[in-house]
Amino acid sequence: MLIAGNWKMFKGPGEAGEFCRALRDADLGTVDVVVCPPYVSLAAAVQALAGTEIGVAAQNVHWKADGAFTGEIAAPMLRELGVYGTIVGHSERRQFFGETDETVVKRIVAAIEHGLHVIACVGETEAEREAGETEAVLRRQVGAIADGIPETDDLVIAYEPVWAIGTGKTATPEIAQEAHALVRSILDVPVLYGGSVKPDNAAELAAQPDVDGALVGGASLDLESFATICRQASHS
Ligand code: 13P
Repeated sequence: MLIAGNWKMFKGPGEAGEFCRALRDADLGTVDVVVCPPYVSLAAAVQALAGTEIGVAAQNVHWKADGAFTGEIAAPMLRELGVYGTIVGHSERRQFFGETDETVVKRIVAAIEHGLHVIACVGETEAEREAGETEAVLRRQVGAIADGIPETDDLVIAYEPVWAIGTGKTATPEIAQEAHALVRSILDVPVLYGGSVKPDNAAELAAQPDVDGALVGGASLDLESFATICRQASHS
């Protein structure tokens, strides 16, 4: 069971270091824990969590090892910092920054090639779900990844229905389970659930047979709520 906190564009280096120092002493149960701070806070997080089992991952990575790509960060740079992995293809990147299935695959391939673990995000929008297109969307998104990457143990998928992200509208455990089973039928890797995971719904989501953990946004920014989610998921 893996619980990853996606901090999105929150917590600069000072706050990140403070949070991670407190995380060292928190009761996180028995789950694997990863935090994903913004780029500028990665070094502070790595330093604060040195010598612990808690991993630090980035929120994105470029597909080239270096080059003229203003504003992008390469996998070897993350490795040099001591970063363990990265998120790729988050819906906010797909929606607001032009990420496509093709660029998602390129980023995953490069990350894995350079020794980073990857949390690759997929999920349908509200309009797609209402139009009955959830399965087709997941088949397209996960299929592109399955077809485009080499066999690896360094990949997990995060199923994050876009309508559940930051909305307080969590997928029911049944909806999550159905989607996770579909994802796993296309690509047999662990599948995390993301979308309004909170201390009071983490346990029932984590109890589903094909839910292998959670990618937590808003509720990962507060130490007590993040630690509670980790402990709740530890019970399942
Ligand atoms: P929330 O937990 O804030 O809904 O965000 C989910 C998410 O996007 C994690 O990557």
